[in-house]
Amino acid sequence: MDQRTPAAGFQKGLTSYGDTGFSSFLRTAFIKGAGYTDDALSRPLVGIVNTGSGYNPCHGNMTELVGAVRRGVLLAGGLPIEFPTISIHESFAHPTSMYLRNLMSMDTEEMIRAQPMDAVVLIGGCDKTVPAQLMGAASAGVPAIQLVTGSMLTGAHQGQRVGACTDCRRFWGNYRAGEIDDAEIKRIGSQLVASVGTCSVMGTASTMACLAEALGMMVPGGASPPAVTADRMRVGERTGAAAVAMIARQLTPEKILTARAIENALRVLLAIGGSTNGIIHLTAIAGRLGIAIDLDAVDAMSRETPVLVDLKPSGLNYMEDFHHAGGLPAVLRELRPLLHLDALTVTGRTLGEELDAAGPPFAQDLVRGRGRPIYAEGGIAVLRGNLAPGGAIIKQSAATAHLLEHEGRAVVFENAEDLADRIDDPTLDVEPDDVLVLKRIGPVGAPGMPEAGYIPIPKKLARQGVKDMVRISDGRMSGTALGTIVVHVTPEAAIGGPLAAVRPGDRIRLSVANRALAVLITEAEIARRSAAAPNPAENPANRGYLKLFLQSVTQADQGCDFDFLRAVEMKERAPARHAGMHYRPPS
Ligand code: FES
Repeated sequence: MDQRTPAAGFQKGLTSYGDTGFSSFLRTAFIKGAGYTDDALSRPLVGIVNTGSGYNPCHGNMTELVGAVRRGVLLAGGLPIEFPTISIHESFAHPTSMYLRNLMSMDTEEMIRAQPMDAVVLIGGCDKTVPAQLMGAASAGVPAIQLVTGSMLTGAHQGQRVGACTDCRRFWGNYRAGEIDDAEIKRIGSQLVASVGTCSVMGTASTMACLAEALGMMVPGGASPPAVTADRMRVGERTGAAAVAMIARQLTPEKILTARAIENALRVLLAIGGSTNGIIHLTAIAGRLGIAIDLDAVDAMSRETPVLVDLKPSGLNYMEDFHHAGGLPAVLRELRPLLHLDALTVTGRTLGEELDAAGPPFAQDLVRGRGRPIYAEGGIAVLRGNLAPGGAIIKQSAATAHLLEHEGRAVVFENAEDLADRIDDPTLDVEPDDVLVLKRIGPVGAPGMPEAGYIPIPKKLARQGVKDMVRISDGRMSGTALGTIVVHVTPEAAIGGPLAAVRPGDRIRLSVANRALAVLITEAEIARRSAAAPNPAENPANRGYLKLFLQSVTQADQGCDFDFLRAVEMKERAPARHAGMHYRPPS
C-alpha cells in the first residue's frame, strides 16, 4: 500500500491515526462496506450538500434535485456522494435565521474540509442557506458550484394571483387595517405558498440565486427555473456534470470570487431591485477572501444602474415570469457594458463567453431595456449622517416616492418587546407624518439582526388608511417587503451607536437624494445622551453558540460575519473606484 499522503478522491485528507497507510486501509474498508467497487472509488469524487429538512419547505424538492445532480456527476464520469449539513428556513428558525447563518457556514466549510471530495455541489435555496454555503465554500478552498432549489409556484385568491411573501405582507396589512376578516386571511394563507420552493418574488432567496449566477458560481441560467419544473432538474444535471469538469481545472472559489466578480454581483443586485440582505451577504462572502465592500462606491454605482426587472416587491411580477422572460442572462445582456466580462465562471468560460452563447434576446416586457427602466436608479441607496456614521440602507425602489424626502417627529421603540407592547396601543402618540424608530434589533441587540425593520403601521393609523411611514432601525427587512424603510443603521444601538440616543419627539430628516439620515440635535447633545446612557451590556451569555455569537459577530458593514471567519487582511475593495464604467442609458 502507498505510504504517501494521497491527495485526491477518497484518499484525500486522511483521518489521523499516526499511520497513513492504516488510515487509507481503514477508510477504504469502510466505504467498501457501502457496496462500492474499486472502479467507482477510483473516479473523481463530487460531494453533494443535501440540505433537505422537514422543517424547510423551501428545500422540499431536495430528493429529486440530488437525484438530478447525481445523474450529471455519473454521466460525466464522477462519483457522487451526498452529505447533510444544517438547513435553515426563515419561518422555522428562532430567534431568527440570521443568527444561524454563520453556524451553517462553519458547518459547510468544515465538512467540505473534513471529508474527502474533489469538488462539491452546494444545494441551498432559502434565504440564509446560499450565503452560508458560499461563505463556507470560499473558506474551504475546494472547487465548488452552487445550485438552488428554485422558486415556488404562485397561487390564486379570488382570481387574483398571489405568492410569498410580498403578498403575505400586503394581505396581513389589510387584515390589520380591518379590510379583510379572519375567515378570508385564513383562506389566503392556504394559497400564498402554492408549492415547495423558495419565495416567488425578488426576495432574498431569489436575489441570492441571481447573485450566485452573477458571481459565476452557478451554471448559466441556473437562478430562475421554479422548483417543480423540468428546467430545474436539468439545471441539477448540468450542475453535476460541471462539478466534475471543475476538478481537472482546479476551479477553486478564489479563482471565481474575485473583486471583479463581486462588482458584477453588486451591479446585478442593484439592477434586479434585489434584497437589502444581498449587501450583507455579499459583504460576508467577499470578506472571506479579503475583499472589502466599499459602501460609498456601491452607492455611486447605484446612481448609474437602474432597476430593470419588473418583479415584486419593486415591480409587479413573479419569479416564474422572470424565468419565462429569459432569467438572469436577459439581465446580464442588458448590463453587458457595465460588467467585467472577463470574470471566470464555474464552466471554465468567462461571463462574456457565456453571454455570447446565451442566444439572442426575444420580445418580452419583464426585463426592461436600459432606456425604459422600472426605476431610474439602483434598487438600493446607502445613507450616511449623524444617525448612521457607519452607513444605513434603504430600498428606494420599493419605497413611497414622496417619503424619500421627509422630516418628522420620532416615535421611539427601545427594542422589539417595546414595539410589540405598544405599537397597537390606541393611546400611542403617533401621527402619519411621524418617523417610527426601532432600536436594538441589530446583530448584537436582538441578537441576530431579525427582519423586524418592517415595523408594522400602528393599527390606529392603518385603520385610517395609512399604508406607509418612514421607519428606521438597526435591523434588517425581508427582501419581499416594501415601504420607506431604513435598515442596517450602523453602528447598532446595542453597542452604543447614535441610534440609542434618539428620544421621542426628536426631529429626524431623511433625504435619499442627498443620501442623508440625521437626527436634528447637535453632536454635543448626542454625546451627552450617550455618556448618560448605561454602558452597552456585557455579553450576557455564559456558554454555547450564543456566547460565541455575541463575542464574535461583526456589524452590518462587515457582513455580520464572525470576526474570526473573515480573512485576516482585506487586500482589495469592491467595487473598485475606476473611471470608464459609467452607465449611460440611450436617450
Ligand atoms: Fe424560504 Fe422565503 S421563506 S425563501
